[in-house]
Amino acid sequence: MRPFLKWAGGKSQLLKAFEARLPEPIKESKYIPRYLEPFVGGGAMFFYLKTHYQIEQAYLFDINPDLIICYKVLQKNHQELITILAELASTFMAKDQDDRKSFYYQIRDRFNQQRMNLDFLNYNNTWIERAGYLIFLNKTCYNGLFRLNQKGEFNVPYGHHKKPRFYDADNLKKINKALQNTELICGDFTEAEKFVTKQSFVYFDPPYRPLSSTANFTTYSRYGFSDFDQKRLAAFYKKLDRKGAYLMLSNSDPKNENVDDDFFDSLYQGYKIERIPARRYINRDASKRGAINELIIRNY
Ligand SMILES: C[S@@+](CC[C@H](N)C(=O)[O-])C[C@H]1O[C@@H](n2cnc3c(N)ncnc32)[C@H](O)[C@@H]1O
Repeated sequence: MRPFLKWAGGKSQLLKAFEARLPEPIKESKYIPRYLEPFVGGGAMFFYLKTHYQIEQAYLFDINPDLIICYKVLQKNHQELITILAELASTFMAKDQDDRKSFYYQIRDRFNQQRMNLDFLNYNNTWIERAGYLIFLNKTCYNGLFRLNQKGEFNVPYGHHKKPRFYDADNLKKINKALQNTELICGDFTEAEKFVTKQSFVYFDPPYRPLSSTANFTTYSRYGFSDFDQKRLAAFYKKLDRKGAYLMLSNSDPKNENVDDDFFDSLYQGYKIERIPARRYINRDASKRGAINELIIRNY
């Protein structure tokens, strides 16, 4: 199983490093009684673990309602979603370059208009169409970004991909199955608290702290995450630690930019902090795509 979206901060290249650092009982038994991911995004870690480990119960959270709509549609109506995606993909592919671009903007407009009258709280058929639009836009827009303007409109430009890979029906079927004993919750990461029990495994992948003041390219605009939120998260981490759960958190290392920046070292003092090499893909400046470290912070 692989992520069905390209998502900023996707963790595919770090999965082996995370796996090597799973709690010992999970590594030995290949069994996870309760898995929680408060910032699921593209879900690279969840899909990897679900493929290689037996997860009894999973709880996935994200503050982005359109993303959670996609997951819920995959959980309930993946066949209809595949039909919609097949139609969008074949209409797009039958066009020449210029027409593809205007088709992209047509779908982007529809997606933005749909938002005005959408019932975001109760599952309904419009969600299926909306999930199709989001996946289509994600595969054809610039760099797979998800960015909203102040009015809440998706405003990423067309991406000029030669051969977009819209979806893989087999993968979507597997995802549908994987989501059957999974709770999908749209909200702030703190919503996870009531589901965390002793022995739960929680993996946190919060939005990166921008490497520099100009590096706002990877931020999630209206779902932005400030230093205040990072501090809120560290307090939450400590709270869940006291519950006896296993906690793993990853983040970009601010020391990549400034060796004296001890922001996370002081926030997570007393926990196991490791720095591992990573490559960053979504960065406008090619020179910043080189070797940088990722932080992994564990309470075990
Ligand atoms: C770095 S991404 C996660 C990447 C993901 N693990 C992957 O592999 O693709 C962070 C996610 O956190 C979400 N987010 C931002 N603020 C949040 C908050 N306060 N509570 C929950 N989720 C939040 C964003 O919508 C985004 O999807």
